[in-house]
Amino acid sequence: MARADEYIELFGSIQATHPTDRELVTRWAAGVQGRILDLGCGPGQWTQLLHAQGCDVYGVDPVAAFVEHARGHFPDVSYAHGTAQHLDEPAGALGGVLAWYSLIHLPPTEFDDVLTEVARCVRPGGGLLLGFFEGPTNEPFDHAIVTAHWWPIAELSARVTRAGFTVTETQTRTDPGRRPHGAVVAVRGPHINHDQTAPHRDQMAPDPSPAHDTGR
Ligand SMILES: C[S@@+](CC[C@H](N)C(=O)[O-])C[C@H]1O[C@@H](n2cnc3c(N)ncnc32)[C@H](O)[C@@H]1O
Repeated sequence: MARADEYIELFGSIQATHPTDRELVTRWAAGVQGRILDLGCGPGQWTQLLHAQGCDVYGVDPVAAFVEHARGHFPDVSYAHGTAQHLDEPAGALGGVLAWYSLIHLPPTEFDDVLTEVARCVRPGGGLLLGFFEGPTNEPFDHAIVTAHWWPIAELSARVTRAGFTVTETQTRTDPGRRPHGAVVAVRGPHINHDQTAPHRDQMAPDPSPAHDTGR
């Protein structure tokens, strides 16, 4: 990636992330049992955050500059080269996968196969957390680094469900001057909410407003 250094400069520290996202990621990770893969970890800041939280976590990214940066800055954390298309894990080996703004770069035609590969590696009851640019239609745009794709939250949730997960929570928000943000939290396999009086936030509902929260 030609502009990896620029990305690292702008977004490579955990302080550059939104507090709401840190709350979501750390809360999600606290509920994961087993090893977490930070898929498309980029500079490695989220991997480090989860490591500091006490999680068994490692990062994978296809871009050498990111992996080298992550290893250099967070030497206590494990990082490897790799892609979402081919995860080097046995079936059911992972407790959870964090894919924060990484699957946005996949062509939509590859998206379902990648979700299936992720699902293969996550144990039943394990977790998935996706961060992405939320938009009304699934189409590409010229992201500063490399082409990315908007995802409507309902369509992304449907694809996650088809891959073998149950969506338990969604979030959207828009900050001034930022693209709309979305997040999808899901559990591998059928999920039963035993507490019928306290359903998960935004559970499974298509978001009526694309800009009702605060933003990335
Ligand atoms: C916008 S950056 C996000 C990085 C990091 N997760 C963060 O939140 O800062 C997108 C990342 O996805 C990675 N990526 C792109 N294609 C990928 C693929 N096929 N498999 C895994 N990661 C990929 C890029 O190398 C890059 O690190």
